Amino acid sequence: MEFHDGNFRRFVKLWIATTIALFLLLMLASQRWPRLDAMLPSPWRATKHNTGNSNETNFAGLAELLPKVATDDRTVIITSVNEAFARPGSLLGLFRESFHAGERIDHFLDHLIVVAVDPMAYRHCRSVHRFCYLLPPTKTSMNLSSASDFMSDAYVELVWTKLELQQRVLQLGYSFLFTDVDILWFRDPFRHIGLHADMATSCDVYSGDPDDLNSLPNTGFYYVKATNRTVEMLRRWRAARRRFPPDHEQNIFNHIKHELAGADSDLRIRVQFLDPAHFGGFCQLFHNDMATACTMHANCCVGMANKISDLRDVLGQWKNYTVMPPAEKKKANAAGRSFGWRDPAKCGTPDKRPQ
Ligand SMILES: *[C@@H]1O[C@H](CO)[C@@H](O)[C@H](O)[C@H]1NC(C)=O
Ligand SMILES: *[C@@H]1O[C@H](CO)[C@@H](O)[C@H](O)[C@H]1NC(C)=O
Ligand SMILES: *[C@@H]1O[C@H](CO)[C@@H](O)[C@H](O)[C@H]1NC(C)=O
Ligand SMILES: *[C@@H]1O[C@H](CO)[C@@H](O)[C@H](O)[C@H]1NC(C)=O
Repeated sequence: MEFHDGNFRRFVKLWIATTIALFLLLMLASQRWPRLDAMLPSPWRATKHNTGNSNETNFAGLAELLPKVATDDRTVIITSVNEAFARPGSLLGLFRESFHAGERIDHFLDHLIVVAVDPMAYRHCRSVHRFCYLLPPTKTSMNLSSASDFMSDAYVELVWTKLELQQRVLQLGYSFLFTDVDILWFRDPFRHIGLHADMATSCDVYSGDPDDLNSLPNTGFYYVKATNRTVEMLRRWRAARRRFPPDHEQNIFNHIKHELAGADSDLRIRVQFLDPAHFGGFCQLFHNDMATACTMHANCCVGMANKISDLRDVLGQWKNYTVMPPAEKKKANAAGRSFGWRDPAKCGTPDKRPQ
């Protein structure tokens, strides 16, 4: 069909134009303007409109951050800080310094997410580190900027929030190694984590057998491989909180470790307990050899200033050890001398190893 009538064509054009204009107008009217908070740094986004129950929107920005930080095999290292831990001259600085002083481990800093639990911690983090993640305010109802009191309600709440975040990381398909920020790193810890392990954890008490569930885990330093079974493990771990009196996630894990990993368990999580000879701590300073040390944890230590002072000393001992000429180390080894750590001066008297 052809229209030869020019007026009619003009009418059709006008009609189309009006329809399009009306349509656009309607679209605009119904469109919600972009929210102001969409322009804020990711962690503060999606706070109010994410109080819903969707798992997807929990920990906004995390799914975008993970691929930037993860290693080729989709593993991230996670630590967490509050303002007191993150401020200049505090634990975060020492922690990061240990990666530079350690044996070829500074590249791990490119795979480290520092989770800040308050906005000031986030600001401190951003000034020294590439990958900082601020916990959304919905996850931190309490003032956590000075929560270093190990038994306070705020602290206990926080450790469970961290576990929730870790579950989310696994759900997104990333394995993680969580490390407390009061742990110094010296060597690559992954060398000690077995290929078969679903989970590898440092210990407060180590039976001597990496597969023995009777060891007491210390989840200040632990690795979890991303599998469907470990996602389920973290779900059950978090759910178990309701079955016990209020407690830290580490103690609840200890209560349910046989359910998760025992021979009768349906999950059969393969847990590896890490030898304190490599993953040491102040609780039981085994005077172990710097020649094989991977990490040192300032646990069993009350008071931030004490902790910082003793960790700084540990780092100094390590630096002295590393600058020692290889020939001298060899000679010392041949003479049966090992390079033990000094007892921490301020953090109390550690257990003395019986042998
Ligand atoms: C969130 O995830 C948990 C565990 O994966 C699941 O039980 C729950 O139903 C999920 N909630 C929603 C709203 O999807
Ligand atoms: C949180 O605690 C810190 C240290 O005690 C304090 O300086 C800060 O003002 C508190 N913040 C809020 C919002 O209460
Ligand atoms: C893990 O779970 C997802 C979703 O339920 C499923 O698609 C996938 O096949 C599972 N993978 C394995 C190895 O069981
Ligand atoms: C490191 O070695 C120097 C020189 O021997 C010594 O003065 C210093 O106390 C040592 N530092 C530590 C932390 O042991």
